[in-house]
Amino acid sequence: MSFVIAVAGKGGTGKTTLSGLFIRTLMKRKKGPILAVDADPNSNLPLVLGLKVDKTIGMAREEFFDSRTKIPAGMPREAVLETKLHDVLVENRDYDLLVMGRPEGPGCYCYLNNILRKFLDVLVDNYPYSVIDNEAGMEHMSRRTTRGVDILLIVSDHSLRGIETAFQIKSLAHDLNLEIKRYGLIVNRVKGALGPSLIEEIEKKGLKLAGTIPEDEIIQDFEIRGISLVELPDDAPAVLAVERLMGGLGII
Ligand SMILES: Nc1ncnc2c1ncn2[C@@H]1O[C@H](COP(=O)(O)OP(=O)(O)OP(=O)(O)O)[C@@H](O)[C@H]1O
Ligand SMILES: [Mg+2]
Repeated sequence: MSFVIAVAGKGGTGKTTLSGLFIRTLMKRKKGPILAVDADPNSNLPLVLGLKVDKTIGMAREEFFDSRTKIPAGMPREAVLETKLHDVLVENRDYDLLVMGRPEGPGCYCYLNNILRKFLDVLVDNYPYSVIDNEAGMEHMSRRTTRGVDILLIVSDHSLRGIETAFQIKSLAHDLNLEIKRYGLIVNRVKGALGPSLIEEIEKKGLKLAGTIPEDEIIQDFEIRGISLVELPDDAPAVLAVERLMGGLGII
């Protein structure tokens, strides 16, 4: 079984933080090996996980594109590219991390992108769980993988505008014909309870609330001190809320 969790949402709502916490929870529950995918060109999932990454899929693609004339005749080019792609994967004890990096450059990459898509689809199938941290836009998702997503979690802040953006993201995913089995809305950085007008708006928009995550000052403290969120204490409010949320969705 291979379960794919994709995280999307407006800029700065907490996609990367929550992706990190999903990975942390899956690790703690011994659900690994997990594939963590940083699909944001302004990559910062490695930081949240406490890793330094110097290679990206974008770089491997550029390298291959530049070196293709130097590949000796008779050597399968696809195999050369696949080796380069495998080199990008950072392997850890409980999870492997793949950083996508910058999207396509100006050249014609159709051939490359098809191989890349195939590579990702096969890769994802090797892991019981994959967590994909996306950029705010969603277009790249249709370009990067043809395999479906089991659950798309859309993160919002506690504002009517945030809920409106979450709704637009859901509509966009639908318009792009992305194969998404389930959707869930997460309201992050909640202080206290959700306001009645927010609940009303969520219902009006037909969004399904998967759960809320409280504003957690330990996260801020860890960020300031540059400590990985994997190290958060088990009883941190956000950690407990993420566990509840994943349990409620039947993921753990
Ligand atoms: N529950 C929370 N409690 C406290 N701080 C939080 C919480 N969730 C996220 N943050 C903080 O909010 C900021 C933005 O979070 P994050 O980088 O995860 O958002 P993002 O959606 O990935 O942003 P971007 O769109 O830039 O990729 C960070 O400083 C993070 O530490
Ligand atoms: Mg982010």
